[in-house]
Amino acid sequence: MSFINENFLELQDSYLFSTIAKKVAKFTEENPDKKVIKLGIGDVTKPIVPACIKAMQKAVEEMGAQEGFRGYGPEQGYDFLRKAIAENDYKSRGIEILDDEIFVSDGAKCDCGNIVDIFDKNNKVAITDPVYPVYIDTNVMAGRSGKYNKEKEIYENIVYLPVIAENEFKPELPKEKVDLIYLCFPNNPTGTTLDKNELKKWVDYAKENKSIILYDAAYEAFITEENIPHSIYEIEGAKEVAIEFKSYSKTAGFTGLRCGYVVIPKDIKGLAKNGEEVSLNKLWNRRTCTKFNGVPYIIQRAAEAVYTEDGKKQIKENISYYLENAKIIKRGLEEAGYEVYGGVNSPYIWLKIPEGMTSWEFFDKLLKEANVVGTPGSGFGPHGEGYFRLTAFNTKENTIEAIERIKKLNK
Ligand code: MLT
Repeated sequence: MSFINENFLELQDSYLFSTIAKKVAKFTEENPDKKVIKLGIGDVTKPIVPACIKAMQKAVEEMGAQEGFRGYGPEQGYDFLRKAIAENDYKSRGIEILDDEIFVSDGAKCDCGNIVDIFDKNNKVAITDPVYPVYIDTNVMAGRSGKYNKEKEIYENIVYLPVIAENEFKPELPKEKVDLIYLCFPNNPTGTTLDKNELKKWVDYAKENKSIILYDAAYEAFITEENIPHSIYEIEGAKEVAIEFKSYSKTAGFTGLRCGYVVIPKDIKGLAKNGEEVSLNKLWNRRTCTKFNGVPYIIQRAAEAVYTEDGKKQIKENISYYLENAKIIKRGLEEAGYEVYGGVNSPYIWLKIPEGMTSWEFFDKLLKEANVVGTPGSGFGPHGEGYFRLTAFNTKENTIEAIERIKKLNK
């Protein structure tokens, strides 16, 4: 008999978005005549832009010709893409990131989940709450969370940092010393941001406490306001303390193509038990070579095309389209009397639900009475209770229709 990884038994229910998908499938099966509009999971609806399609078509042709065929690629990503990233996502913002500090991957979800491999089980982890569930679940799987407290709905060894209206969605620095800090800005799920001064406090804390920030910047392409950092490396000293995750999923609609990257600067070090400082870049490289064979060549060519002139223009148009949807949702909900957050630098709108309901009850009501799918706040953690998330990723027509239906709901 083989024994299982008991840590998995500490996980709560099923993964949030699978639970929602199951509920929606059941509702659709029972109500085949109803048109359900999904503003739940942050999945895009606009097709891949022509610049990326052209690049993939060319890459497909290459793969079919003897001289262009490629087998295993470099595990860390092809040089052409790493260079394009360093140049366009960093150098253009005055940030020096070396090509070999960038690791191309099949998306930020995997990177955020896999990064726990290179850290000791006993590190103290701080996580903003509500939060993208992957950060918590992967720490549970790794045995770093401690037991689940059913009453408080928290894991004993995790430090939760509330991101709520009462603190204007700016998490406070931990009162105790923590080793790993997950930050995601623009934030999933609240759609709120930190400005440069606010993010600097976190970098300073990490430097003082020798902690490491795991910074998820998957939504940076949606930033519209000045002084909101697109990368944590815009903050002085961040290269010594922060790992950054980026994704083409929301930026360029690659949710189905799968590509992202993680930046691990060479200046960032972890500690071995003997006191020796060890390069995290080296550890991650070692892990990557062992467990990953790289993103398909064709997809990496598509990602490279994101940075061409045509690619940039076409992607900007898509982002503006989604941001317009975000405005429609925000305005519509405000007109309907809801308290609404996010949606300005983010595709996510975070609303306060009517008093006296749980966020899952609101989910059921919305699905049943308006045939609209959203995401209950409590699915993102205990401080998400009382809130609800809608995404701007559906079509404009569906977004308008969904909001009209929500406006007609009896609160
Ligand atoms: C979300 O809806 O929070 C995201 O789309 C999930 C993901 O990126 O995995």
